[in-house]
Amino acid sequence: MNNIHLRKLTSKERDISTKLSATPLVLEHQGSSKGTLEELMTYLSDNSDELVEGLDRHGALLLRNFKIESEVDFENALTSLSHINCMDDYFLAETGRLLVEGTKYVFYTNKFYKTGAGLAFGVFHNEGYRSADVPHYISFYCLEPSRQGGETGLVDMAGVYAALSSDLKAKLESKTFFSESVSLSFLAKKYNVPITRVEEFCQQQGYKVTTDNDSQDKTLVLFKPTVIEHPRTKRPAVIVNMGLKIVKGLENYFMEDYRGLKWWLHRLSWKYKFIYYLDMFSRVSRISEKYREVKKEASLMEKDPAGGTKSKVKPRGSEHLSYDTLEKVITTDEGKQFQKALRENFVSFRWEKGDVLIVDNLRMCHAGMPGKGARTVRAIMSNPVQFELSESSPGRQSISPGPHSQTAIQKLRQL
Ligand SMILES: [Fe+2]
Repeated sequence: MNNIHLRKLTSKERDISTKLSATPLVLEHQGSSKGTLEELMTYLSDNSDELVEGLDRHGALLLRNFKIESEVDFENALTSLSHINCMDDYFLAETGRLLVEGTKYVFYTNKFYKTGAGLAFGVFHNEGYRSADVPHYISFYCLEPSRQGGETGLVDMAGVYAALSSDLKAKLESKTFFSESVSLSFLAKKYNVPITRVEEFCQQQGYKVTTDNDSQDKTLVLFKPTVIEHPRTKRPAVIVNMGLKIVKGLENYFMEDYRGLKWWLHRLSWKYKFIYYLDMFSRVSRISEKYREVKKEASLMEKDPAGGTKSKVKPRGSEHLSYDTLEKVITTDEGKQFQKALRENFVSFRWEKGDVLIVDNLRMCHAGMPGKGARTVRAIMSNPVQFELSESSPGRQSISPGPHSQTAIQKLRQL
């Protein structure tokens, strides 16, 4: 396989400057024609150890100039890496996070909502922050790059952790923070299991369950650590789903990167937020389909004929009120500290059609960047890891490596 080699990205392949010049590591087929899928799969299978070590060092691996022409090709390429253990579902998946037809593991980033290449920055997050199932790796496949911008921005959160003040580190490590809540009867219907089994599952997992005084509805409440020690490198990193308070004003740190006429509307929308909200609305590309899906979920929240209790999903907002969220405890100054560290540890590259990017989700967070035009990216999540998700669990946790660890859904179904 003399024509397949590892290299660094050049500055010509990036639109936004970065200090992380070695990320992502690139595995490329050299030559004017693209490498075949078979060549790539053989290479990935024969060199899995070396490539995963490369991921440990650089945080992300880009496969470029191979004939990856469909979601099925993407799935075949990725599953040929012996370390990859793909997830076909995960606990509390968001609405619209559906499997692509004809694949076992490839998800729409969101079937109803255009991700990336809008006016605003996407919300930086580690995949699965609101779920009990966090993938060690998230991989993206670019079916169609956007006309302008629309990169998948990455942030080295181990670098962010190192840059934070000791006071802020101590605050983040002091305890777990609220991440999600959902009623048990909703879970029973969503996953088609008896509610007693859901209760047993929550107990076994050590999850907090609250009971509403009036309705007697039971609700699962999940908490997340914010600092984790990587299962392979042992380096600490911050994991987040950055809320508005943390990202408000983030664009100020990227002003140099979005200069010139082609970014005028984007820059204007960062100043006048109503343009941003118009953009948000226009991104719901399949309103009727989204409506049907939301309605389907809503039907699970109606009166439970067996138990006679109302089974509704608690809105995030109301549960937020009684628990500490990261958003709630971070001061404005600490938010700025985050943003500065985020820009300093930011890295991106220009997507090319057929690219596959494998990201270490326990080190790097990601977001769709501003841009213009259609943008089609698919995702595969793999190698689920487990956290302790109770209110009293430590705010800093070391993650044990588990190539075959089960997802929370699998555990629920096997009870
Ligand atoms: Fe994501």
